[in-house]
Amino acid sequence: MDKNFYITTPIYYPSARPHMGHAYSSIIADFFARFKRMDGFNVYFLTGTDEHGLKIQRAAEKNGIETSKFCDEISKTFKDLSKTLNLTNTDFIRTTEQRHKESVQHLWNELKKNDDIYLSKYSGWYSVSDEAFYSDEEIEEIDGKKQSISSKSAVEWMDEESYFFRLSKWEKPLLDFYEKNPDFISPESRKNEVISFVKSGLKDLSVSRKSFSWGIKVPNDNDHVIYVWLDALTNYISALNYPNKDNDLYKKYWPASIHLIGKDILRFHAIYWPAFLLAAKIEPPKKVYGHGWILSNDQKMSKSKGNILDPLEIINEYGLDPLRYYLIKEVSFGNDGNISQERLEDCINSDLANNYGNLCQRVTAFAIKNCQSKIPEKVQFEKEDLDILEKFSENLALIRNKIDNQDINFYIDFIVNSLFEANKYFNDQEPWKKKNDITRLNTIVYTTLEIVRKISFLLYPIIPESTLKALKIFNINENEIILSTVANNDFLVKGNSINKIDILFNKIEKKDD
Ligand code: MSP
Repeated sequence: MDKNFYITTPIYYPSARPHMGHAYSSIIADFFARFKRMDGFNVYFLTGTDEHGLKIQRAAEKNGIETSKFCDEISKTFKDLSKTLNLTNTDFIRTTEQRHKESVQHLWNELKKNDDIYLSKYSGWYSVSDEAFYSDEEIEEIDGKKQSISSKSAVEWMDEESYFFRLSKWEKPLLDFYEKNPDFISPESRKNEVISFVKSGLKDLSVSRKSFSWGIKVPNDNDHVIYVWLDALTNYISALNYPNKDNDLYKKYWPASIHLIGKDILRFHAIYWPAFLLAAKIEPPKKVYGHGWILSNDQKMSKSKGNILDPLEIINEYGLDPLRYYLIKEVSFGNDGNISQERLEDCINSDLANNYGNLCQRVTAFAIKNCQSKIPEKVQFEKEDLDILEKFSENLALIRNKIDNQDINFYIDFIVNSLFEANKYFNDQEPWKKKNDITRLNTIVYTTLEIVRKISFLLYPIIPESTLKALKIFNINENEIILSTVANNDFLVKGNSINKIDILFNKIEKKDD
């Protein structure tokens, strides 16, 4: 079985500091990376910054800073954010790096060699904010200003000599590819919109610009820079040392298992990218997943709307794991989700502090007092113990399958239900009334500790730092978190010590309490 897993985030534009939408894509990717790693996969997890093009050049000019210096500064804030978010990315790529430039130019030459690129003239609409071309049908006029109907960004007329990619030639091969790879575009709901766009007819794509210079030069034609999307998309293979296809990274990880992106950039990933790759005789990625947007006051966050939520502010106030938990649980994956401080506080109080934190504290305190701080002996599980313990083994295959289909909602529901059941089990079994029946008391404590361990393993990809603190109860380290052991009912070793841990989550005093 293929035990290699390659996941990517979009590479972010360093035109402004990162916001919650960027943090969201990265946290979700980290969740999958951690899950796969604890399931025994070799994981390559890539993120980075997309630094060329007019959008970045203009942002630098506006800030009065030399473009490459501007990119260095803002790219660093994204790199710092990946540390703050506790991402386990393997690499952080910048499109201004030499390794990337070489890959892009090589890919260009391949396309040229195969007669997929020709020189002509582009006249049409262009949005610098989206770095995208739009047809007349995709444009509307509001208050005398032209803008894209889908993204609402301003467009400007462009009229210049340009190289074109023969996208039209790839219409049929793309449709065949989608048919043979029904999971390529996910979720299912986004698939149709892409397919009907392709079916409506693809025009050749302008892939170079002449009117500015901040980009990778077209080989043998220094007057042109390569279209920023052709440049940016190539990051997914330049990080694996393309064009050297014989190196370990490329051999192990290409084609990528999943490109995780926001739904706004689906067209680039689900149409242009596989077309470029097919044209260069490279296998396309296995899946492109377009997630929904984080909304702030019902709108997509953007600098111009002034509704940006700063992840650093939230993390400073509430901590990282509560934010990770909240984004993963409350934004129904695949759909848009409004983010609210009140719901975040509810999550912390009810799920994290009351349900998880409290369970860990209660059973540990009880075991320290009544089992001499040691894992007690379980003599024999009763039906009620097995009922709860075996839910995990019974569902493990399903959990894996759901994660392979990006059903995060199932995953989190399973955990939340398990936490409720675990607390109920401990209450119903009343071990404090079993002091005359030590065998039973020990078995109840053992069962509850096993459940704490299992749930902590499952929670690890969501709230890594907190679960590692919780697992100190058993002296379990990060490299011992192995998904398959969630099916074991006798993982904990009798006689091993049980350690007291600090409070995992402080409850938030709500203003209206
Ligand atoms: N540079 C391109 C991507 C190139 S990938 C080869 C780009 N950058 S971006 O910085 O504008 O946005 C990148 C991604 O951030 C979006 O696709 C999406 O994944 C995420 N988000 C940006 N705003 C978002 C929200 N408000 N909500 C959720 N995610 C959004 O596009």
